[in-house]
Amino acid sequence: MSDHDDPMAELRRQLRPYEDKFPSFAGLPQEGLPRSEITALVEALAEAEKPRWSDGFASGAVYHGDPEHLAFLNRVYAAHSQSNPLHADLWPSVTKFEAEIVSMTARMLGGGHASPEAPIVGTVSSGGTESILLAMRAYRDHAIERRGIARPQIVAPVTAHAAFDKAARFFGMPLVRVGVDGGYRADLTALADAVTEQTAVVVGSAPTFPHGIIDPIPQIAEIAAERGVFCHVDACLGGFILPWAERLGYPVPPFDFRLPGVTSMSADTHKYGYAAKGSSVVLYRGNELRQFQYYALADWPGGLYLSPTFAGSRPGALSATCWAAMLSLGESGYTDAARRILETGARVRDGVTAIPGLRVLGEPLWVIAFTADDDLDIFQVTENMSRRGWSLNGLQRPPAVHIAITLRHTAPGVAERFLADLRESVDEVRANPGVRTGLAPIYGMAASLPEDVVRGLLGDMLFEV
Ligand SMILES: Cc1ncc(COP(=O)(O)O)c(C=O)c1O
Repeated sequence: MSDHDDPMAELRRQLRPYEDKFPSFAGLPQEGLPRSEITALVEALAEAEKPRWSDGFASGAVYHGDPEHLAFLNRVYAAHSQSNPLHADLWPSVTKFEAEIVSMTARMLGGGHASPEAPIVGTVSSGGTESILLAMRAYRDHAIERRGIARPQIVAPVTAHAAFDKAARFFGMPLVRVGVDGGYRADLTALADAVTEQTAVVVGSAPTFPHGIIDPIPQIAEIAAERGVFCHVDACLGGFILPWAERLGYPVPPFDFRLPGVTSMSADTHKYGYAAKGSSVVLYRGNELRQFQYYALADWPGGLYLSPTFAGSRPGALSATCWAAMLSLGESGYTDAARRILETGARVRDGVTAIPGLRVLGEPLWVIAFTADDDLDIFQVTENMSRRGWSLNGLQRPPAVHIAITLRHTAPGVAERFLADLRESVDEVRANPGVRTGLAPIYGMAASLPEDVVRGLLGDMLFEV
């Protein structure tokens, strides 16, 4: 069997393309290498990887990517590369950056409507997953301490991000998943039925990762408030698009702190906030909830220890670049970026719909998921797109694929190239019925693989030298 017929060998080839091309270091070199040699290596690797994301072949991944914006962020990063907010006395600038990032994000997400007794507060975290983990753990501890619930539960639609499952496992919180309706929105009846005495928090997404669909947040927040439980809105993807989409007149239902039942939100600055990778914001209604997130140790021989997130030391430089990105874009920059992304999203959605045999799932704005008729293998279509350079996200239940539109796709000709490649990829599948190449079989069987097998195979492949 050649590598191209063996999907696991093909996966390995794709994940570890440098095995024979660049030197590898399983141990420290005896003598340090010259800096010039190392920078040459690092730059060669970066250059090799740049064209795909820079030319707009990736779903999500790099959300801005304009060279001048990147040079600006890199300059800010370099100025603060040694800073660490754990040492607030040495780097009070980072405390300032983070407080202002949180405040700007809270205002953008309806924080001005909160009552003075329960202002919108928050912290900067390392990414969407950490923001979600932090909120879920705060809710768990609040439920245990204040409501006496032994094993607090999370209620979330099946489409809520995997980070909620991760939180459930890490923190021993049963996760009750509820279904979605025909438009891929949370099924409200199922959600209401799932809320019990054990529920700590219900979750809605604005929008969901798989299908880019905004859950009915006003109704979810109302159910939560009526039943006396908390409501987290995951706006990791939409937090920095939807406020501007609303101003631009797109159909965006209320999804943020303007809704009294919404008690926390996650919004990723490192996605459509256009900051460098490694930052997100988690927001809470009121100081009390945020305090459940904090960790403090008073009687440790190492002295008084307080940390707001999971990490101890943290990269202050990332908060500096995040702050800089937000200031440099401003409301007008974000609005303009959202306009371009939403217009491109509409063109891609309409273009996909026009390809016979493909069907867009639900009514998305800029994360466009689509599936295929039964006689057309959507994963082989995805594989054919990969061979044309595209890095799309394969989905399951139902089998589908999505592209998250970023500023990279708004450059002239990129959306057209996507649609032309997609048409060709579909034609190729039709011309070769039953043929499955590359990773297509893996996408198809992923849902049926036991999780320990996935952990073992992929973990080994990714992390061995
Ligand atoms: C809706 C949603 N929530 C959470 C996350 C997790 O974010 P991160 O990958 O930054 O941890 C993502 C990532 O795409 C997302 O789309």
